[in-house]
Amino acid sequence: MSIEHNFQPKIIGIICNWCCYGGADLCGVSRFQYPPHIRLIRVMCSARVDMFHIHRALSNGQDGVFIGGCHLCDCHYVTNGNFNAYSMVQVFKKLLKHVGIYPERLRIEWVSAGEGIRFANFMNEYSAELIKLGPIGKAEGIDEKTLAFKLEAIKQIIPYIKLVLTQRLSVSERTEEAYHKFFHSEEFERLFQESIVERLAISQIMLLLKEKPHSSREISDVLEINSSEVSKYMNSSSKQGLVRYNVSSKSYALSGS
Ligand code: FES
Repeated sequence: MSIEHNFQPKIIGIICNWCCYGGADLCGVSRFQYPPHIRLIRVMCSARVDMFHIHRALSNGQDGVFIGGCHLCDCHYVTNGNFNAYSMVQVFKKLLKHVGIYPERLRIEWVSAGEGIRFANFMNEYSAELIKLGPIGKAEGIDEKTLAFKLEAIKQIIPYIKLVLTQRLSVSERTEEAYHKFFHSEEFERLFQESIVERLAISQIMLLLKEKPHSSREISDVLEINSSEVSKYMNSSSKQGLVRYNVSSKSYALSGS
């Protein structure tokens, strides 16, 4: 973690129309100060924020993405969409962490229309946190190409993750306590490992093989995945017909390439 002199983080705030935007408006009317490098986008509900939006923002050089919604249970829609936004953010943060990007770059908070000062406080706090972290990629010690590669690997599995979110990571009780408890539990950790880690690794391997064939050793070195895991992933990918092994060059290539 490094502090770059005069670094002004680029931050996108995606906030819901009914509460958080009202809070932001009140913040402005009340003349509470927050940094000018935060750009706000208004959506009807925090549930409208898609993982592809977060991916796109980070891929286009945003240092952080802030999502703001109504307080949990106060969402203006019958589905209480902010619980979905909360779940999605917890999973995306874990994905970022898993590929070596600071999960703090993504943040979700709840602000009501009467909480202008709370909105300003979050903006100031979040901006200060990102200034401390530094620019995306550089702060993590990864170059632009590697950052793009890692984010692309995440993007490739977003449709799958959406399924996992509804099928395996749903929380039965729609309360703040139940969601907080689940997403900070060992059970969530286990389900993430079981359902997502392998997919993410295979997604990275496929992207690597798209560039050129690689041996198991090379895959293991580039992606920093231990060799036994690489063998496991290559076996399952071969069985699915995604890759083929070339005996003479001892390397894997994408099927059909
Ligand atoms: Fe604000 Fe749903 S309307 S989070």
